[in-house]
Amino acid sequence: MNTKLSVNINKVALIRNSRGGNLPDIIQVAKDCETFGAQGITVHPRPDERHIRYADVPTLKKIVTTEFNIEGNPTPDFLKLVLDARPHQCTLVPDAPGALTSDQGWDTIKHKDFLTDIISQLQEVGIRVSIFVDAAERFVEGAKKVNADRIEFYTGHYAHEFLSNPAKAVEAHARCAKLANEIGIGINAGHDLNLQNLKYYKDHVPDLLEVSIGHALICDALYYGLQNTIQLYLRQLN
Ligand code: PXP
Repeated sequence: MNTKLSVNINKVALIRNSRGGNLPDIIQVAKDCETFGAQGITVHPRPDERHIRYADVPTLKKIVTTEFNIEGNPTPDFLKLVLDARPHQCTLVPDAPGALTSDQGWDTIKHKDFLTDIISQLQEVGIRVSIFVDAAERFVEGAKKVNADRIEFYTGHYAHEFLSNPAKAVEAHARCAKLANEIGIGINAGHDLNLQNLKYYKDHVPDLLEVSIGHALICDALYYGLQNTIQLYLRQLN
């Protein structure tokens, strides 16, 4: 099966913000990613707006022609932004306000009532909801109970362990993916995926629907260019 590549453009916005102008223009970059083959655009607005700004979101919604995915911690402000923008997918991530990057998934058991409420608000207006989880059976089962459409496996630990022991690194992900498929929940994945570890992940995680990749892809684009880089990632997936 084809796995969709959604390009996370936060890092591009970070460069723009560092000079205060509009270079690079993230709207043009999003359009170009799609022209170059990306099947989705992801943004992760954080409360400090250090990369994607809340104001970027409505404009992106207007121009993205593939799949628009907004990820983040469902604070009241974030929830309003997403409900107004109506992306195809919202990925809920339990990142602390000052976190450098997301480093863990939801405890879907502890936060059952909270997640159930947020997910139903998003689904009511037609937004597909994915929740970021670590690869553990109890969290996958918990995701089903809160009625999430999909889970996004946090792949940070996988990426780290892949360097020394790929088989061990992917084992829990393969097991949890099988469970997710059995109980009828879709599978996305993201964090620290790159040209070295992506194909192995895809080959071992059955029915992987989508990956969202930012940091490594934008870094690779410095060397290979954005068009070549997107093609290289697509080649790993399909
Ligand atoms: N998925 C989620 C939930 C994230 O928070 C991030 C980072 O913003 C990513 C995927 C992409 O991770 P990376 O930038 O390491 O590719």
